Amino acid sequence: MTGFPVVRSRRLRRGEGIRRLVREARLSPAQLVLPLFVIPGKGQRQPIASMPGVERLSADLCGEEARSAKSLGLGGLLLFGVPDEKDATGSSGRDPDGLVPRAIRAAKEAAPELPVMADVCLCDYTDHGHCGVLLPSGEVDNDATLPLLADQALAYARAGADVVAPSDMMDGRVAAIRRGLDEAGLSDTAILSYAAKYASAFYGPFREAANNRPRQGDRKGYQMDPANGREALREVALDIEEGADMVMVKPAMAYLDVVRAVRERFDVPLLAYNVSGEYSMLEAAAANGWIDGQRAMLEMLTGIRRAGADAIITYFAPKAARLLAG
Ligand code: PBG
Repeated sequence: MTGFPVVRSRRLRRGEGIRRLVREARLSPAQLVLPLFVIPGKGQRQPIASMPGVERLSADLCGEEARSAKSLGLGGLLLFGVPDEKDATGSSGRDPDGLVPRAIRAAKEAAPELPVMADVCLCDYTDHGHCGVLLPSGEVDNDATLPLLADQALAYARAGADVVAPSDMMDGRVAAIRRGLDEAGLSDTAILSYAAKYASAFYGPFREAANNRPRQGDRKGYQMDPANGREALREVALDIEEGADMVMVKPAMAYLDVVRAVRERFDVPLLAYNVSGEYSMLEAAAANGWIDGQRAMLEMLTGIRRAGADAIITYFAPKAARLLAG
């Protein structure tokens, strides 16, 4: 007697109380990380046309932002620099008094308990817009990039970042950063590696927000081919071996199978990055009245959790946290 009419699945769907009791995937503000774009100046806020509701802000305002993230119960912040000065090697990214270090200090001062993560990559700081330094051929020089990434991570760790998050996709960068941090006595700074980061069209709005579009060529020579799932498992395994404390799959929505596969194979905390394009598509559809923005947002975030992500990096973090608080 295992089927209908004895079994009726609908019994457990009859009211919100019972649905809530048997719900499998839960979403809590503690699992949401908010990315911030840091610009030069003081008291500056700048809207981002392609990401309605998201602003770039100057480092001094990151304290305020951290306090508000803390009061919403968010899991943390992820900082990106949007500097005026750029050069061939991205040196403004290594400046101990640069945009991100200043933002880290402001955030940690305002909300010491709130985890602060900092994105480590050259592309926001290079005049050519690539994630590493370039060979004369225009190709990225993997090995020459590693010490620069380690120096950037060191500047962020010294400023007080709890977590550094390399997003460049150079081979060997996690090991280089771990070594750099440990040699400087910063063995407590954690590494969140963008382990499976795909060469995705869904980063479009971010490239406006961070002004880091490559001047020539694309990122397919270092970011992963969207067709590859097994390769993601190799990337994650390598990064864990090199010392990653947490790993990330990015983007999220078109890669939920990868999130699931990584979850099943590895035991380190897994984050998924709900990227700018995923945010903007939903906001645009909602603004046109084509979709219920709030419900779609929660459904999307819940789906990423159900696929197996422990936490989600998302521009929706404050909006979702407010809704979840009821
Ligand atoms: C930079 C970086 C990118 C994102 C995070 N770090 C852009 C890129 O690789 O081109 C994308 C985030 C988003 O789209 O929300 N290395």
